[in-house]
Amino acid sequence: MSRLSLAGRLLLVAAVIGAIDIVLCGIVLLGNARTATAVEVDANLGLARDYVIATVGSLLRGNDPEDVLSILPDTLYQPRHARITVIDAKTGMVHVAGPPSQDEESAPDWFRQLLAPPEKTVILPIRVASDTSGKVIISSDPNDEINEVWEDVRTLAVFGGTAYAATLLALWLVVRRTLRPLARMTEGVERLGSGDYATRIGAVDVPDLALLASQFDHLGAALERTIAEKDDLNRRAVSVADEERKAIARELHDEFGPCLFGLKVEARSILDSSVRDGKSGIAASAQSILAITDQIQRTNQALLSQLRPMELGQLPLSGALEDLADTMSGLGPDIDWTIDIDPDFGSYDDTTELTVYRVAQEALTNALRHSGARRIELVARRDPRRPGVAQIIVSDDGRGLAAGSAPGNGIRGMRERVASIGGRLTIGPSAEGGVRVEAEVPLEGVAMQEAI
Ligand SMILES: Nc1ncnc2c1ncn2[C@@H]1O[C@H](COP(=O)(O)OP(=O)(O)O)[C@@H](O)[C@H]1O
Ligand SMILES: [Mg+2]
Repeated sequence: MSRLSLAGRLLLVAAVIGAIDIVLCGIVLLGNARTATAVEVDANLGLARDYVIATVGSLLRGNDPEDVLSILPDTLYQPRHARITVIDAKTGMVHVAGPPSQDEESAPDWFRQLLAPPEKTVILPIRVASDTSGKVIISSDPNDEINEVWEDVRTLAVFGGTAYAATLLALWLVVRRTLRPLARMTEGVERLGSGDYATRIGAVDVPDLALLASQFDHLGAALERTIAEKDDLNRRAVSVADEERKAIARELHDEFGPCLFGLKVEARSILDSSVRDGKSGIAASAQSILAITDQIQRTNQALLSQLRPMELGQLPLSGALEDLADTMSGLGPDIDWTIDIDPDFGSYDDTTELTVYRVAQEALTNALRHSGARRIELVARRDPRRPGVAQIIVSDDGRGLAAGSAPGNGIRGMRERVASIGGRLTIGPSAEGGVRVEAEVPLEGVAMQEAI
C-alpha cells in the first residue's frame, strides 16, 4: 500500500468498499430470495392440493367413479411450483403433470442448490368405493421460481457491475485530473533545484492546489531575484577587485618601473666612474645597489603578474593560456603534461579572460602543489554542443581530494569568479583517481542558462 500512488490508494479503497458492498447486497438478496422462494413454493403446494381435491370432487359428481383416475390427468392443468403425479393402481399407469423442462435461461446448479427449499410432498389417496384405486402425489417444484430469481440476479449483476466499473473509472479520471498539477509542481521543484530559477507553475484550476502553486511561483520569483542580486553583487565584487589590482599593477609598473630603471642607470654610472677613479669602496657599494635593484625589479615583475597577468590584453586568450601552461610545466619538469588549447580562443572582455586564466592557473597550481601527480592535463576548448561556452578542464592522476577537506581560498575564488559571470564550476574525482576541475564559462556575454 505504501508504494501505491494516491490515485492507486483511492481506487483500491473504493474498489474494496464496492466489492464488500456487492458481496453484502448479494448475501441479503439471496437470503431474502431463499425465504421468498420457500414461502411461495409452500403456498403453491397448498393451492395445488386444494385444486386437486376440488377437481376430483367435481369429476366424481359428473362421471363414473371408476373413470375418475383416467380422466383426472387430462383435466388437471399445470399448477405453479408443483408437480402432480397421478398413479392409477388398477392399470398401473402413471401420469405426470409438472412444469416444462428447464430451458437455456435456467439457473445453474450451484444457484439452484443455494435457493432451493427442502422438497415437500403431499400424497392424496383416491378411493373409489372402499378400496384404494390410486393416488395423486403433489411435490414441490421451485425451479421456475428459482429461474425468475436467477434472471433478476443476472440483470442486477449487469447493471451493478457496469455502475461499479463506471464509478471506478470516473474516480480514476477525476483523481488523475486533480493530481495533474502535482506532477507539474514536482517537475517545477526539480527544475528549480537544478538551477532553472525562471521556472513557474502558472494557474492551477484545482482550488486545493491553487494556493500551493501560487506560493511556489512567488517563492520561485523571490529566489530568482535573490540569485540575480547575488550574482550581480558577486560580479561587482570580482570586477572591483580586478579593477583595484589593475590600478595597483599600473602604479607599480608606471611608478616603480621607471624609478628602478633610473636607480640602476645611476648606480651603473657611479660604478663606472668609481672604477675609473680607482675608488673600489664606492664601486662595491654601487655593485650592491645594482644587485638590490635587480632583486626589487624581479619581485616587482612577479607582483605585477600576480596582480594582472601581463599576457592578458597583449595576447589572444589561447596565447596567454599557452604561456601559462609553459610556465607551469616548467615548474614540474618530471610530470607528464598534456596541453590541449583551442587556438581559436581570441580576445574577450577583461573579466572573461581573467576568469578563464585564473581558473586554469589555480587548478594547475593545485595539481602541482597538492596532488603528487605523475600526469597533469589541461584542456581549454569550446563546448562542442555550445560554441558560446568555453570549457577549461584540469585533471590529474594524483591522490585526489582528501575526504572532508574544506575548500580553501583558491577553490572558493575559482567558484566566485566563475559564478560571477554566470558560469559553472565542477570539482570531482578524475578518471585516474585524482582531481578533475571543470569550468564552463560563457564567452561573448552568453548567459549559461540560455546557452544550455
Ligand atoms: N589537485 C588536487 N589534488 C589533491 N588535493 C587538492 C587538489 N586541489 C586542491 N586540493 C586540496 O584542496 C585544498 C584547498 O585548495 P585551495 O582552495 O586551492 O587552497 P590552497 O591551495 O590554498 O590550499 C588544498 O589544501 C588541498 O588539500
Ligand atoms: Mg590553491
